[in-house]
Amino acid sequence: MSHDASPILQVEGLTKYFGGLAAVKDVSFQVPEGAIFGLIGPNGAGKTTLFNMVAGALRPTRGRILFRGRDVTGLRPFQAVRLGIVRTHQIVRPFRSLTVWENVEVAVRFGRRPARNAAEARARVAEVLEFVGLERVAGTPAAVLPIGQQKLLELGRALATGPDLLLCDEICGGLTDAETQNVMELLRRIRAGGTTILYIEHDMRAVMSVCDRIMVLNFGQKLAEGSPAEIQRNPAVIEAYLGRSAVGVGTGA
Ligand SMILES: Nc1ncnc2c1ncn2[C@@H]1O[C@H](COP(=O)(O)OP(=O)(O)OP(=O)(O)O)[C@@H](O)[C@H]1O
Ligand SMILES: [Mg+2]
Repeated sequence: MSHDASPILQVEGLTKYFGGLAAVKDVSFQVPEGAIFGLIGPNGAGKTTLFNMVAGALRPTRGRILFRGRDVTGLRPFQAVRLGIVRTHQIVRPFRSLTVWENVEVAVRFGRRPARNAAEARARVAEVLEFVGLERVAGTPAAVLPIGQQKLLELGRALATGPDLLLCDEICGGLTDAETQNVMELLRRIRAGGTTILYIEHDMRAVMSVCDRIMVLNFGQKLAEGSPAEIQRNPAVIEAYLGRSAVGVGTGA
């Protein structure tokens, strides 16, 4: 991808207080169109809170969010989805009693470009299930899926809405190495299809291999931003988050 592409997302001075706690404080960054942009940092650093604000689930205390130059600060989640901004949840949230197929169907119906007829809706659901590799469990209730497939369903439901900006929150938490590799490959293919990805993950090998650029949050504030190689050798990041053992993790470049 081209690193000088115009930003799809611009965040300026974003701040969120919960009572007296600044969960996110004065954070600014830009995500180029077509990037896989990583967001890392210790537990409680404010990553999910930042996602919630971008996806419209939380109203910022201060600051602005621009999507393709348009001010989208304080939009509701359904409005964000209509513009092409959608998130996955750290704790997956399928409709548990609905089947895999039905879960994706709901997302297709409430997505950006609702299908014009039942046949088109079916084709879109089938396409998403095939893409994430869940076609064989299409008739299974979401509640009984193992965690790896629940995460794929969460990703499939987000994709079914037709996003231009996909926010993935710890989609690899609890997955095996092979499952994680599979998700990395899916993220690369999603980006190749024209969707920009903002990606929260604690699995540093995954993050370093798939991201073009990474921002580090610590105690709600931006600690660093740069390429995977720059982040891995940044002393402040090593001190606050990566630790010595993580130094030298391959970038896969
Ligand atoms: N709804 C809320 N009400 C009060 N405090 C909250 C709320 N949501 C988050 N927090 C607090 O805000 C801070 C940031 O939380 P957040 O969930 O954004 O962190 P995170 O970086 O996503 O962490 P993790 O890696 O564990 O998922 C934490 O101190 C958390 O306890
Ligand atoms: Mg989180």
